[in-house]
Amino acid sequence: MAGCAATQHNADWPLGPMPTNNFTAPPIPEVRVAYIGCGGMGSAHINNLVRIPGCRITVLCDIVPERAERNADKVVKAGFPRPKLYTAGEMDWKNACASADVDLVYTATPWRWHVPICLEAMENGKHAATEIPLALTLDECWQMVETAERTQRHCVMMENCCYGRSEMIVLNMIRKGALGEILHAEAGYMHDLRAVKHDQNGEGVWRRQHAIDRDANLYPTHGLGPVAQAMNINRGDAFDYLVSMSSTSRGLEDYAIEQFPEGHPVRSETYRLGDVNFCMIKTKLGHTITVGHDCNLPRPYSRISLLQGTKGIVQGYPNRVYIEGVSKPHQWDELLDHVEEYEHPLYKRLAEAAKGAGHGGMDFFEDVRLIESLNRGEAMDMDVYDGASWSVITHCTELSNADRSRPVDIPDFTRGRWKSRKPLAILG
Ligand SMILES: NC(=O)c1ccc[n+]([C@@H]2O[C@H](COP(=O)([O-])OP(=O)(O)OC[C@H]3O[C@@H](n4cnc5c(N)ncnc54)[C@H](O)[C@@H]3O)[C@@H](O)[C@H]2O)c1
Repeated sequence: MAGCAATQHNADWPLGPMPTNNFTAPPIPEVRVAYIGCGGMGSAHINNLVRIPGCRITVLCDIVPERAERNADKVVKAGFPRPKLYTAGEMDWKNACASADVDLVYTATPWRWHVPICLEAMENGKHAATEIPLALTLDECWQMVETAERTQRHCVMMENCCYGRSEMIVLNMIRKGALGEILHAEAGYMHDLRAVKHDQNGEGVWRRQHAIDRDANLYPTHGLGPVAQAMNINRGDAFDYLVSMSSTSRGLEDYAIEQFPEGHPVRSETYRLGDVNFCMIKTKLGHTITVGHDCNLPRPYSRISLLQGTKGIVQGYPNRVYIEGVSKPHQWDELLDHVEEYEHPLYKRLAEAAKGAGHGGMDFFEDVRLIESLNRGEAMDMDVYDGASWSVITHCTELSNADRSRPVDIPDFTRGRWKSRKPLAILG
C-alpha cells in the first residue's frame, strides 16, 4: 500500500546504522504527527510523511480550511484514518499542540509562528520540528534551546539542503579526509524571489514584510547549514564572531514599479533589506566562512557551496572538485567523477524511494531522517543548537549592518559543549 500505518518499519525498508552522540529521547515506534501550516512546503512534507514508515498524521491545522481538507484527503487516500482538523483561526495551533494523539508537532507556517508553535508543542510534551528558520531573534533562539533542554524534547530545524546529493557527497569526501583540514567556506542563498515575494496568495502574503522591516541576512541556513556540518560547527568548532555588510536596496522597488499598476499599494513600499548582504564568520578554531544573501535581483540560483581544505577544494554551481594528487594540476574535476568513491550511503539507501519528492528528493531524505531518528530514539542530525546557531546569523548580521559592519559575537548555544560534542557521522 502507498502509506504504511504499521508501527514498525516495513520489512523491505532499508535501515541505516545506529546513532552517534548528543540528546536522545525514548524510541517512538509510530510517530503521530500534527502538521501545522498546509501551504506550499507543508503539503510537500505531508506528501512525504504519508509514504514514510513509522509515522502517521493524526492532526492537520491551517487558517485556510480548504488546505487542511485537501491534505486530509491525501492522508486518507494513503490508507490512514482521517486526521483531526484545526482550522478555527490564527491561534488554533494551540489546540493542535495540546491534542493527546500527537508525538511530534511539525510546522511549515510563516516565520513568525515557528517559535510560538514549537514552544507550545514542547510545553505539551511533544517533540517539535519546524521549517527554516528556527527563530527570528536572539531571545527566541535562547527560548528554543532552553525549552528543549528543560522539557527534554527535540526541537529540530528542518534544513533540507543538508540532504542535497552533492552536499552529502562533499560531507562524505571530507569525513574520508580527501580535502584535508577545511579552513574556509563560502555559502549563500542567492535566489531571485521577486515574484515569490510579490505573490498575493502564497509566501508574498507574509514574506515581503521581513524585507520591509530588516536589513540582515534573512535566510542564512540553506547555504550555511551544509558547510557548518562539514566544518563541525557545534561539534568540535563553533562560530565566534562575524562582520556584515549590505548593498543598497533597489530590486523589490523596481519590480513593484514594473509589475503593479499606478496607485497599487505595493508601489509605495520601501525596504530596509539591502539587496546583497555578505557576512564573514570567524570560527573558534580560526577558520572562516562567508555567507551571502541575494534574493531581490535578477540572477540564476546558487548556494555557492565552496569548501577549501588543505588538500583540495569543492565548489558548487556547477559542482566541481580539485583533489591534490588526484585531479590534474590546476584543473577542476566534475564532482560526479568521484561519485563511486564518495556517494553518501543515505543517498544510496533512499534515492529510489525519494524519486519525485520536493527539491530533487532532499525534502524526503530530511523527513525520513526525522522520523527514523524518533522511531529509534536516536540523536537528530540537526539539533536545537544547530538550528539556533545557523538562524541567529540573521540577528548578528542585522546588528553588524547597523553599526558600520563592526564585529558582533555569535552566541554559543552549546555553552562550551561544542568542544566535546562529536562531529556528525556519515549515517547510512
Ligand atoms: N526548505 C525549503 O526549501 C523551503 C521552501 C519554501 C518555504 N520554506 C519554509 O516553509 C515555511 C512555509 O513556507 P511556504 O512556502 O509553505 O508558505 P505558504 O504561505 O505557502 O504556507 C504557509 C501556510 O501556513 C498557513 N498559516 C498561516 N498562519 C497560520 C497559523 N497561524 N496557523 C496555522 N496555519 C497558518 C497558511 O494558510 C499557509 O497554508 C516558511 O518557514 C518557509 O521559510 C522552506
